[in-house]
Amino acid sequence: MSKIVIVGGTGFVGRTLVHMLVSAGHRVDVLSRNRERQRELLIYPAVRVISTDVYDPKALARAFRGADAVVNLVGILNEFGNSGRGFEKAHVSLTRTIVDACGEAGVSRLIQMSALNAGAGQSHYLRTRGQAEDVVKQSSLDWTLIRPSVIFGPGDGLFMRFAALLRIAPVLPLARASTRFAPVWVGDVACAIVSALNRSESVGRTYELGGPETLTLKEICQYTATTLGLKRWIVPIPDVIARLQGLAFDYLPVPLKAFSSDNYRSLLLDSVPQTDGLADLGIRATPIEQVVPAYLGDGKQRILDDYRAEIRR
Ligand SMILES: NC(=O)c1ccc[n+]([C@@H]2O[C@H](COP(=O)([O-])OP(=O)(O)OC[C@H]3O[C@@H](n4cnc5c(N)ncnc54)[C@H](OP(=O)(O)O)[C@@H]3O)[C@@H](O)[C@H]2O)c1
Repeated sequence: MSKIVIVGGTGFVGRTLVHMLVSAGHRVDVLSRNRERQRELLIYPAVRVISTDVYDPKALARAFRGADAVVNLVGILNEFGNSGRGFEKAHVSLTRTIVDACGEAGVSRLIQMSALNAGAGQSHYLRTRGQAEDVVKQSSLDWTLIRPSVIFGPGDGLFMRFAALLRIAPVLPLARASTRFAPVWVGDVACAIVSALNRSESVGRTYELGGPETLTLKEICQYTATTLGLKRWIVPIPDVIARLQGLAFDYLPVPLKAFSSDNYRSLLLDSVPQTDGLADLGIRATPIEQVVPAYLGDGKQRILDDYRAEIRR
């Protein structure tokens, strides 16, 4: 049993990771900018959610003291405007502060969540992801980098976001419809982090994580519609319009941004792993079909259909 501190552990990936770490017998401290909004994690006796100014080096070092490992899950997909400063703060400065705080607190093990294509392309998102990776690699810590493609699971920003749009829109205009992804299940991503924590050979390594299927954005959207039993028209939009769409959203408050110039630039690159990081960590990737219908709603219908068929027999 060991003590793991997670920064950014209250989100989509964090909630699954916390559950797995607790199940594996670890104690977990989750540092949050606002503990009061994160009550659902408090059901675990082995978990503490601690309100912390994660940008304050002293507060971080205090929170890390006595930990066996730190996991940094903080990441943003959008900032206000389009200057890159928000990405630099959340990805690069924060990573630097975390690395320094690990040193100060005597914690040598760090798992850093990143993303496929970190350091490549023209988006602030990917550029700052790459810079954050460099900060970690140049440290004297025992680091591991995790680079997933897009992640799916209950509460995701992929199938569930498309499902919400498709339920109301008979026609869905789609930017960068031909960009390819290898969606990876959140359970496999969390498992990869737990596995990396358990394996000394993961120190100094970067793991690219993807699921077993490679799909374009249009195919992901189409799959969502089919799973929901909806007939929808998904219309790829030309890049010139997509760029304008991004610009139109740039100066909206972050929670209202459905798209941005930076999202557009990230989508210019396919997000498909070159190596099988899941297999290297002893995990067999979970197919979309095994999980998505259950949380998109069709699963309930299927159970009902099976039940009716059973009664008829
Ligand atoms: N989801 C995906 O498809 C995907 C794909 C590739 C990589 N990733 C990366 O995986 C990590 C986890 O993703 P996720 O989907 O779980 O993200 P998430 O749900 O947005 O959670 C991230 C957590 O980071 C904290 N946070 C958010 N903005 C912050 C900021 N500006 N400064 C400091 N802390 C902030 C929040 O915690 P508090 O509000 O409690 O402080 C939040 O719970 C991220 O680094 C993400 O970029 C995700």
